[in-house]
Amino acid sequence: MKAKLCIIFAFLVIGQMFLHAESASTVLVDVDHRQSVSLNGDWHYIVDPYSTGLYTFHHELRKDGFYLNGAAEPGSDRLVEYDFAKSPTLKVPGDWNTQSAQLFYYEGLVWYQRYFDFQPQAHHRAFLHIGAANYKAMIWINGQHVCDHEGGFTAFDCEATQQLHAGKNFIVIAVDATRRADGVPTATTDWFNYGGITRDVALVEVTESFIDDYDLHLNHERTAIVGWVHVQDASPKTTVTVAVPEADLSVSSQLDSSEKASIRIPATSLQLWSPEQPKLYRILLSAGDDKLEDEIGFRSIETDGQNILLNGKPIFLRGVSMHAEAPFRGGRANNDKDVETLLRWAHELGCNYVRLAHYPHDQRMTRATDRLGIMVWSEIPVYWAEHFEDPAVLKKAQHQLTEEIRRDRDKASIVLWSIANETPNTPDRTQFLKTLASNARALDSSRMVTAALLVRTEGHDKYVDDSLGEDLDVIGVNEYIGWYEKRPEDIDTTVWHVALNKPMIISEFGADAKAGLHGAETERWTEEYQANVFRHQLGMLNRIPQLRGMSPWILVDFRSPRRLLPGVQDGYNLKGLISNQGEKKQAFFVLQKAYQDKELFKLK
Ligand code: GCU
Repeated sequence: MKAKLCIIFAFLVIGQMFLHAESASTVLVDVDHRQSVSLNGDWHYIVDPYSTGLYTFHHELRKDGFYLNGAAEPGSDRLVEYDFAKSPTLKVPGDWNTQSAQLFYYEGLVWYQRYFDFQPQAHHRAFLHIGAANYKAMIWINGQHVCDHEGGFTAFDCEATQQLHAGKNFIVIAVDATRRADGVPTATTDWFNYGGITRDVALVEVTESFIDDYDLHLNHERTAIVGWVHVQDASPKTTVTVAVPEADLSVSSQLDSSEKASIRIPATSLQLWSPEQPKLYRILLSAGDDKLEDEIGFRSIETDGQNILLNGKPIFLRGVSMHAEAPFRGGRANNDKDVETLLRWAHELGCNYVRLAHYPHDQRMTRATDRLGIMVWSEIPVYWAEHFEDPAVLKKAQHQLTEEIRRDRDKASIVLWSIANETPNTPDRTQFLKTLASNARALDSSRMVTAALLVRTEGHDKYVDDSLGEDLDVIGVNEYIGWYEKRPEDIDTTVWHVALNKPMIISEFGADAKAGLHGAETERWTEEYQANVFRHQLGMLNRIPQLRGMSPWILVDFRSPRRLLPGVQDGYNLKGLISNQGEKKQAFFVLQKAYQDKELFKLK
């Protein structure tokens, strides 16, 4: 009995260590402009559906887990039942589902391992940067635990200075892609649960005290760059300098007791960022020995009654929704080519805006939208039936919101933070989302907060009166008249009743069509049917007085395990305007024509 108690106690301590480590990850802002050693490439992997490498048969954490990267030494009789060196490899970044036919539907634990050389610089610290790992990740370097992370679509950084040494090192990452009802997202979604280390991995070195977070944006009056810079572990009174060489602007400011330096640089002749002129300025930041460079656009974005104002002028968001799925090859999008193809198609459509659904996309995407002048709706995966009553789930959502905003706060193209998609209108949910809305504003006061809401329907009347709307700056609405409800022609007689005097965006509408399938426009799954829905929808939307944008569902067909009609869907959601092999459907040209028509969606 006594022995059993000791084991349980030991387990708790180790458990506690992991729980504590969970919060050890952080987000180093602008990390893609920092000096780093890439760890992308081929990693050995072991598929471990029973978590054998982590737990004993009594589900206690193993002291000799796979994180030790052990292997049977020649001549030794020690029992070792795994060997990374003899195991196959997976590409990192990359989901495992599209790299191995055996892993296509696999949603469990996979161990990743590789060696790397590292020469630590004197008076420097080292962080492991992971662009994203779906869904839970546990990380060890040289057999020592570094950190744990939960959430499949946000970047995180873990300090590894203590665990690293000069010369040959090894890293082991356990990634568990199991869907969880109390996860964010919850267990049921309409997208494919690609598992693995899906975005870049690198080692980043920084000085002992370093800039880890900042907010630099144009003030409301557009007369000054304002914000702050946070320096981690800085000596008091460290001076922070922010400079904009091209505009001959700079300021120095001292840290306060919370290691933050507030920044204010009068700036009245900056070229403002806009889709027409996506001007980015090279920004130089320094604090003590740490130096950092970024590229930032300066613009103001706000609402005024039913209008959205960019740099003080009303705008209409001509957009499209997209998933982070790679065109042609499939799987998670994670390289410049994927991003270039998706945004080129959005540009061809005539978009000045994209909705990145339903989770933060790769940083490459938001750097590219900054450069190309495409405004962005960015979202965390609080999707459908989350466990809104569970405080632990709120904590997970808040964690992802913080990671999302820290990574992308410096992106001028992002104009909307979306806190949810199609969630049930219940008191627990509304309270959960009211909290997230205020968290988003606390993290970033310079952008608008939104969510994709469902609407109440009575006959031909649509009521946008979800009480959460009061906490949003812009009302997002998803509707599928002509596909999930009614017929395309019923769209024409639909009457909208919007309770709030705020800008409204139709964040989703659409219909499925199999590329190349043709028939009467009354025949579902044909391109003609989808095009017909678009024509009716665009006519209706043009009649909604407070409509200020749209992002039809969706740019490209994408994988979804919920779409199972043989010979038609075959595991794909076919609401794309383009097939995943790049075939443009008739509806693509219907929308393109509408976005070129200056009379449509004309702001009064
Ligand atoms: C929903 C949801 C999407 C989904 C789409 C569809 O509105 O937000 O994630 O894919 O509808 O049903 O096609």
